[in-house]
Amino acid sequence: MAKGIFPVDKFKGIETPFYFYDTDLLKKTLKTVKEQVKKYGYVQHYAIKANANQKILKMIASEGFGADCVSGNEIQAAIEAGFPASKIVFAGVGKTDKEINLALALNIFCFNVESLPELEVINELAGKKGKIAQVALRINPNVDAHTHEYITTGLNENKFGFSLNQIESVIERLQSLKNIQLIGIHFHIGSQIEDIKVFEPLCERVNDLQNSFEKKGIKLGHINVGGGLGIDYENPNANPMPDFQAYFELFHKNLKLREGQILHFELGRSIVAQCGTLITRVVYVKEGEIKEFAIVDAGMTDLIRPALYQAYHKVENISSNLPGKKYDVVGPICESSDVFVKDYELNETHRGDFIALRSAGAYGEIMASHYNCREIPNAYFSDKI
Ligand code: LLP
Repeated sequence: MAKGIFPVDKFKGIETPFYFYDTDLLKKTLKTVKEQVKKYGYVQHYAIKANANQKILKMIASEGFGADCVSGNEIQAAIEAGFPASKIVFAGVGKTDKEINLALALNIFCFNVESLPELEVINELAGKKGKIAQVALRINPNVDAHTHEYITTGLNENKFGFSLNQIESVIERLQSLKNIQLIGIHFHIGSQIEDIKVFEPLCERVNDLQNSFEKKGIKLGHINVGGGLGIDYENPNANPMPDFQAYFELFHKNLKLREGQILHFELGRSIVAQCGTLITRVVYVKEGEIKEFAIVDAGMTDLIRPALYQAYHKVENISSNLPGKKYDVVGPICESSDVFVKDYELNETHRGDFIALRSAGAYGEIMASHYNCREIPNAYFSDKI
């Protein structure tokens, strides 16, 4: 939703900070992704971790997408929103017995397994229930995603998945795990990947691995390449959606799928980031020794990405049309890292003005915390405000 079309008048009676979601943009994004995956017969599992707001989950589930979950509670949230268990994949390096049992009881589609001890435990718990668990091996392809080090996952130094060297012994061990059925392989190399070319070496790795699995006589029905497609944080108005067409086409061109094999994706950020905005009010404008601070009532507890990853979110004063001035836009939390932007040009700002922190629909609301005994921000939607 571009500046100027935020319903600022309607915001006036609402306590800040809050998340505001543009449901039209979400619908358009879902429609685009749906068209693209349909074109190639791919399957998209929305990564619940990006945003688990029930209304958003319901909108995504109703479009027929599956869900990518990383905890028992995410599985519950997905089920509550209407994602069928048969379309749920479950990843994570530390799945507990309780979570595995929940997933087994619900008969989810697939466990994305990250280690041998996990495989043994799933086998044991499935055995106790007299079930066969479908699993995909999460393989760490050692491909550099060229993104922030905290959101790079596919390198040997990262904790995720089996390394390429371990696969042989895992396959051997699988022979004796009677309550496990290997159905595929899974990858995820990182998040906020802006140059989609880095998915090409991933495809090459998958192609090589497919050959080696085939040499061992193993047929894989499913390939899952995770998520990671980046969005334009600098220009959310000009680019409200990433180039989904180019993204899916890249896999179509580079990945050699076998007859009947299904390719799965787990996009999170690219689905929900641009539809969400954190709306906050200016509490004070404070003259510093060398700069001016716009102190807002949202902080790192409401949107932690700038403090945690030095991430940039575009900031706009949506109340003011006055000529621009430079500010540090900071929150009220007792931490020096509670800064959204520094030396940043905003329309001249005054106490009470609304400030919009853009592209906050992914890893925003869901990462909010109670630090400083603060409340978790509410969410409002453009179709019902
Ligand atoms: N699949 C797996 C196995 C993942 O680990 C992730 C994200 C996704 C899918 C979805 O990736 P996406 O399409 O959203 O890039 N909190 C960080 C991002 C952490 C991403 C973790 N894994 C941030 O705010 O940038």
